[in-house]
Amino acid sequence: MKFSLTAQDKLSKARAGTVTTDHGDIQTPIFMPVGTAGTVKAVHQRELADDINAQIILGNTYHLYLRPGLDIIERAGGLHKFNGWEKPILTDSGGYQVYSLTDVRKIKEEGVTFRSHIDGSKHLFTPENVMDIQRVIGADIIMAFDECTPYPCDYNYARHSIEMTHRWLQRCCDRFDNTQPKYGYNQTLFPIVQGSVYKDLRVRSAEVIASFEREGNAIGGLSVGEPAEEMYAMTEIVCNILPEQKPRYLMGVGTPVNILENIALGIDMFDCVMPTRNGRNGMLFTKNGIINIKNKKWEDDFSPIEADSDLFADKVYTKAYLRHLIHSGEILGMQIATLHNLHFYMWLVGQAREHIIAGDFYDWKNIMVKRLGQKI
Ligand code: GUN
Repeated sequence: MKFSLTAQDKLSKARAGTVTTDHGDIQTPIFMPVGTAGTVKAVHQRELADDINAQIILGNTYHLYLRPGLDIIERAGGLHKFNGWEKPILTDSGGYQVYSLTDVRKIKEEGVTFRSHIDGSKHLFTPENVMDIQRVIGADIIMAFDECTPYPCDYNYARHSIEMTHRWLQRCCDRFDNTQPKYGYNQTLFPIVQGSVYKDLRVRSAEVIASFEREGNAIGGLSVGEPAEEMYAMTEIVCNILPEQKPRYLMGVGTPVNILENIALGIDMFDCVMPTRNGRNGMLFTKNGIINIKNKKWEDDFSPIEADSDLFADKVYTKAYLRHLIHSGEILGMQIATLHNLHFYMWLVGQAREHIIAGDFYDWKNIMVKRLGQKI
């Protein structure tokens, strides 16, 4: 993997760059649609590539390991071959899902034992086997096995937790560096900064993570319920420590406003279930703010979903029609809402990139933050 910086904003820490992988280039800042189980829910790969302009999607170790299982993915030739997505893929390590999806789990130095949310079967994730699993899945960028602490989190718990996450990272690196990719293209490992909302812990974690000198770095444990101002404060502290010449990935963030503010602090990569999950439930992110398409006010609004969009679904379908589909639980409603939201998120990061390159990102960002946060 390679990362090159194209432009840097003068009034903020925003940057535009390019991540190069064996499955193609990623123009940053970038949003990565979430495809937990090997599918971005409700979207064809062709729509993802051609209509939404997605450049990289996410997969998840926890879900893919449980179902369909590694044997099937390996026999398919890896996740790219299995799901027909030929561009880059990033897999999360399961370090978040074992905490958020399983209520029966035990965290020890060795790793985490948990029960499957599908059939209750018992499993153990360790830094070593999570690297092996991600080798088999075959993502271009794989994530270290970490502990994502909840919010609020006791200071002493968070302090001990980062030390364990750092020891786990050493084990991840040892395993990753002593194994080979399975399918002939390169993979790279990103470590994850933790430390809850404690400045000194974030500083310590960012320094340790940077010292591993991997090709890119991530920030985790945010957007877990803390106020946005605390999230921004942590991102700022960490971005000042993580190396400038490497991509920075903020995990699980966020709303359009969160994304713009974090781009301004020096983040290059984002993922979040919001545009997909909330979209299926009728929440639409638009250039003028957030719409709940289920509201009665849209019942007889026969205007297009987004008038000046180049997405066919935005031009062809009306708000009233989409409201009817979502109200009726129709599959097409979820498809249209997902297409719209992902297209909007990709438009947003694309615009951010253009404004960084043009040199007027800061003023544009401030105007957009006011507009996009409104509920309409
Ligand atoms: N996704 C969102 N936050 C996190 C995190 O802290 N760790 C991991 N592994 N994934 C995440």
